[in-house]
Amino acid sequence: MARILVTGGTGYIGSHTTVELMQAGYDVTIVDNLMNSNIDVLDGIAAIVGRRPDYENIDCLDYVALDKMFEKYADIVGIIHFAASKAVGESVEKPLLYYRNNLNSLINLLELMPVHKVKHIVFSSSCTVYGQPDADHLPVDETAPIKPALSPYGNTKQICEEIIHDAIHAKSPITAIILRYFNPIGAHPSALIGELPNGIPNNLLPYVTQTAMGIRKELSIFGNDYNTPDGTCVRDYIDVVDLAKAHVVALKRMIDGKQDDKIEIFNLGTGRGLSVLEIVETFKRVNNVDVPYKIVGRREGDIEQVWAKPDKANKVLGWKAERTIEETLRSSWQWQQHLNNMQKPD
Ligand code: NAD
Ligand code: WQD
Repeated sequence: MARILVTGGTGYIGSHTTVELMQAGYDVTIVDNLMNSNIDVLDGIAAIVGRRPDYENIDCLDYVALDKMFEKYADIVGIIHFAASKAVGESVEKPLLYYRNNLNSLINLLELMPVHKVKHIVFSSSCTVYGQPDADHLPVDETAPIKPALSPYGNTKQICEEIIHDAIHAKSPITAIILRYFNPIGAHPSALIGELPNGIPNNLLPYVTQTAMGIRKELSIFGNDYNTPDGTCVRDYIDVVDLAKAHVVALKRMIDGKQDDKIEIFNLGTGRGLSVLEIVETFKRVNNVDVPYKIVGRREGDIEQVWAKPDKANKVLGWKAERTIEETLRSSWQWQQHLNNMQKPD
């Protein structure tokens, strides 16, 4: 079976995708410098799949080390490129770090692919490229205009998409699929892998699970005066296992030569928008736990509402988000409990 390079494979979405790739029969080489993940994730993957992925501790900024890695694993046929810095707030404070990491990592891979005859790349993009879509573009399909980025992080996603376009336009012998994720949440149903907390969470779900666990006193809900049904912001929360599966399908489409264009773009979401309050109330109900919260002022830069029109991915990729929000929110809580047990002294 073919070998896939997964950059950022010990990270949140990368680890779940590695599981799905290996369960589909692929061999996987993970490249990750562990700047935002933990080596123990490999044990979780091995426990789920029954075999270990190959792992190389390499920084994607290190062209020479990547070059040697491609020589070592000469059977790599495709890349799923997750490795990137992803914290929106940090990107405002350290823009150059974000531009360097996210742009140069991609450029190194794109330069090395033809050298090592690797033809296919899946790139992790984000719904952040759409900003706040106009009312007539909600739900958002792939033709919605790209809005000026609200953060250096968002800008790196836009620029990376353009870099891939330009490389292919300049006749690089590669094909690409760009996947624009909406809001990935949840964890593997085994509760053996999930999202690792890094300081005080910025994202909603880790904050909710940590509050339910008593690690945080209460959740702050940022604004209830938006023009939405209950006044809180609306997002398209997509289960991480569903998201991972889409990568396997996208890669297979390229390997099988089924693409309509050398570069294709797909939105990955459920097609359903949920408010912050709906998430919190559903989490409480399905897990039978309390999540104390207070309403505070709006968070700067927040988008009022955005959710996906995933029809293109549904039809063309034959992929559909399947897990219910109840299942997903249960998995988030199970993962938080697993983390808590791991951190307790014996
Ligand atoms: P993550 O931080 O959990 O995973 C990223 C992994 O990449 C980490 O393990 C990190 O150590 C590694 N990494 C970063 N820079 C590296 C480098 N230079 N060399 C080697 N390894 C490096 O993040 P995630 O949530 O799994 O996100 C994966 C991708 O999906 C990112 O590109 C992110 O921008 C994108 N994305 C994430 C979300 C989200 O909400 N999680 C939404 C849209 C898009
Ligand atoms: C979701 C909703 C908050 C925390 C970010 C990035 C985006 C993408 C996904 C990578 C919002 C509300 C949150 C809290 C709250 N990442 N909230 N209290 O902002 O949609 O997207 O992550 O590409 O680029 O911008 O996700 O999880 O931060 O927030 O009320 O403590 O929850 O206001 O409405 P967001 P989020």
